[in-house]
Amino acid sequence: MPTKSFTLIDNQNNKHYEYPVMEGTRGPSVLDLRTFFKDSGFFTYDPGFTSTASCASKITFIDGEKGELRYRGIPIEELALKHSYLENCYLILTGELPDKAALLDFDLEIRHRAFLHEGLRHLFSVFPDNAHPMATLAAAVTALSTFYDDHEICHDEISYQEMARRIIAKIPTIAAFAYRHSLGIPFIQPDIDLGFTENFLTMMRAYPGGKMHLSAKGHEEIKEVEIRALDTIFTLHADHEQNASTTVVRGVASTGAHPYVAISSGISALWGRAHGGANESVIAQLEYIGSVDKVEAFIEKAKDPNDDFRLMGFGHRVYKNFDPRAKILKNLQDELREELGLDSELMAIARKIEEIAMNDAYFISRNLYPNIDFYTGIILTALQIPKSMFTPIFVIGRTVGWITQWIEFKQDSTSKIARPRQLYTGN
Ligand code: ACO
Repeated sequence: MPTKSFTLIDNQNNKHYEYPVMEGTRGPSVLDLRTFFKDSGFFTYDPGFTSTASCASKITFIDGEKGELRYRGIPIEELALKHSYLENCYLILTGELPDKAALLDFDLEIRHRAFLHEGLRHLFSVFPDNAHPMATLAAAVTALSTFYDDHEICHDEISYQEMARRIIAKIPTIAAFAYRHSLGIPFIQPDIDLGFTENFLTMMRAYPGGKMHLSAKGHEEIKEVEIRALDTIFTLHADHEQNASTTVVRGVASTGAHPYVAISSGISALWGRAHGGANESVIAQLEYIGSVDKVEAFIEKAKDPNDDFRLMGFGHRVYKNFDPRAKILKNLQDELREELGLDSELMAIARKIEEIAMNDAYFISRNLYPNIDFYTGIILTALQIPKSMFTPIFVIGRTVGWITQWIEFKQDSTSKIARPRQLYTGN
């Protein structure tokens, strides 16, 4: 037994069971209960995995009490303010920030891999008009696996990296195609001359032929500040340790399915409004509230135990003081207010909600603070991105995290098929 251990006592028969304590490099110690059922005949009960570490991971660390988030050991504040999304992707995938030459290679590889097989392009036409881009995205990513069936089994680091870079590069194209299909407008192919984030904005906004909106002043340009804002949003979403959708991705990985099918499952899990879908719900809720004078009444609804209304964009399972991503976005939103004309009735409503909720005993006592989704919606609206694309934008950012977690799962010799037990209460 290691020096640190835990003894569990069955009070019915005074049997003692001793379990080793595993120490991570950061965060709480973990009680190794892998043999508990074999030893005692008992299962543990932990719905929602609130006390369960489902794996060991070196990718992302969160300290919810301190409001800390790190990718590969580096604080998110440093990564979001000093490094591009592609640098963060490289860091998450490989464990190191790229030097200049490595970044150039990575950037060029992503640009070249952004194109879709023509066969896949036809898939979009089977979906009805107004199909939600999240549904189309999940279906298209599953379909993508049929074009790269060799990725089902990756043999070495080179094949893992090729598989990962391919999906990171193609996700923005698929997301933009899903959106344009939902409007019935022609697709815009990726432009190899453009960087990752500008390329995505172009595929969203451009007219057929790839040119931007034309006015008497000439073609409207995508502003540098818009690219930087969206790039930061991608970085802030890039990974978030064992959240609901990542747990789904690892669960699918555990069955041996194709990695892109695992990503597609992650996309479906992310769609729900308790998870990534909250960003869309935040704006829908602000629109529903409609004016600043109605905010107080809605706050009262959110506090009413007999009303299932919740303030969207508030609360988090892990962050109990503040969400560091929300703090960065709040600052970004303040910075962008002038340049992007962010001031709007929606923003005034959001500010009022924040002001009341953050001084209200109900929210304070339950540690309910604005999360990342509370701010993304307002910024994305200012970037001319429609509500239905908010969660696909989350997907674009998160793909690197999901795929890196998939690789880590595959390379961990202790990984097992996900198969929890249950407390049976039926007949
Ligand atoms: N508005 C009002 N009350 C809330 C809210 C909210 N947004 N969130 C939690 N509460 C209350 C609950 O009613 C509960 O109150 P009670 O103790 O009186 O019963 C208490 O706070 C604890 O709530 P739980 O649901 O147990 O907290 P949990 O950690 O399981 O849930 C979650 C976290 C799902 C994020 C929740 O806060 C929520 O639904 N928030 C709104 C949706 C949202 O913004 N989701 C995005 C999360 S961030 C992301 O996934 C990227």
